[in-house]
Amino acid sequence: MARRTETCFQEVIIENLDDACIAVDKNGNIKIFNSMATAMFGISTEEAINKKIWDVVKIKELNNLIMDSARNISKSKIEKIVIIGQTTPYLIKIFQALKEDKLYGSIAILRNLSEYAKIEKALSNYVGNLSHELKAPLTAIKGYVETLLEESYFSNPEISRKFLQIINDETNRMTRMIVDLLDATRNENIKENNLSLVSPYKAIIQSVKLFEGLAKQKNIEIEMDVPENISFIMAREDYLRQIFVNILDNAIKFTGIKKSGHIKILGIPDGKKVKFIITDTGIGIPENSIPFVFDRFYRVKDGEASSLGGTGLGLSITKKLVEDISGTIDISSKLGEWTKVTVSFPAGVH
Ligand SMILES: Nc1ncnc2c1ncn2[C@@H]1O[C@H](COP(=O)(O)OP(=O)(O)O)[C@@H](O)[C@H]1O
Ligand SMILES: [Mg+2]
Repeated sequence: MARRTETCFQEVIIENLDDACIAVDKNGNIKIFNSMATAMFGISTEEAINKKIWDVVKIKELNNLIMDSARNISKSKIEKIVIIGQTTPYLIKIFQALKEDKLYGSIAILRNLSEYAKIEKALSNYVGNLSHELKAPLTAIKGYVETLLEESYFSNPEISRKFLQIINDETNRMTRMIVDLLDATRNENIKENNLSLVSPYKAIIQSVKLFEGLAKQKNIEIEMDVPENISFIMAREDYLRQIFVNILDNAIKFTGIKKSGHIKILGIPDGKKVKFIITDTGIGIPENSIPFVFDRFYRVKDGEASSLGGTGLGLSITKKLVEDISGTIDISSKLGEWTKVTVSFPAGVH
């Protein structure tokens, strides 16, 4: 490759790095100063080139590291985290420009770590919250089991049944959280699996059955208006069931903290599509939170919603499953009054 072409490629790479790049010769004259360095130090490349590094970069610790490396052949590669501007952590890597045992200077790559720090903090908060969410049902289960083991309660069938029901619900809650987590980490593309014509009617009936006990306990009436002969859709039965279970789980959870409520499941043919509208009379979602409910880990943190368990993964998984079978999902709500989830699938023939 012609030398000039090569240099051009190298310049483009350096210019477009996500990290600041500064190279100096042995006398401290700046030889490379890319656009990220300009953004970081507020000095244009033209202004910086051939100036002394200490006149451009006013960070003593950094200059010392760079100059030390540019002058002492005995120095090897340096890697260090330096806090710049009092709060921003940077990973600094300094390499020597060495050719045939001759030292020409040094090159520093400066990577802003604040994004990583934020992600790490969010992750550790999340793990903390999750452990807390899992601990709550476990504590409840333990409490009820211990009480049941006491003779006086054990021999009372009415109390035993009530406690066992709570234990059952709490176990289900924990299982759903774990299933959410596993689903979120699974990166399976269901399009590659065998899809077949399945009955959404059957999937809905099975999903509703799972929640009957809980709904009754929470004084929630579930009304179904889905024609038994509603079109089949190309999907996988278990995934379709999971879509409905996730939506119903939210409907029950966010309605259950009111004294009573109503969930309506409406299934309607809609041209070449089949549409399902699940409306609940629960606590609703603040308008400014609606755009985020399908994001991974997102949960409404204010008001009543904050006291309820969950991973914030259910709707993101649901959306992925719906889209994998070429459907759409939409959510609308009025805070304090209702939430409506609409899912629509292309109808198959049967
Ligand atoms: N039917 C609903 N009523 C009120 N809020 C809801 C409803 N469905 C979803 N949300 C809001 O959307 C958030 C995300 O839902 P989801 O992904 O299922 O997470 P999770 O149920 O684990 O909190 C919930 O935390 C809640 O704030
Ligand atoms: Mg959920």
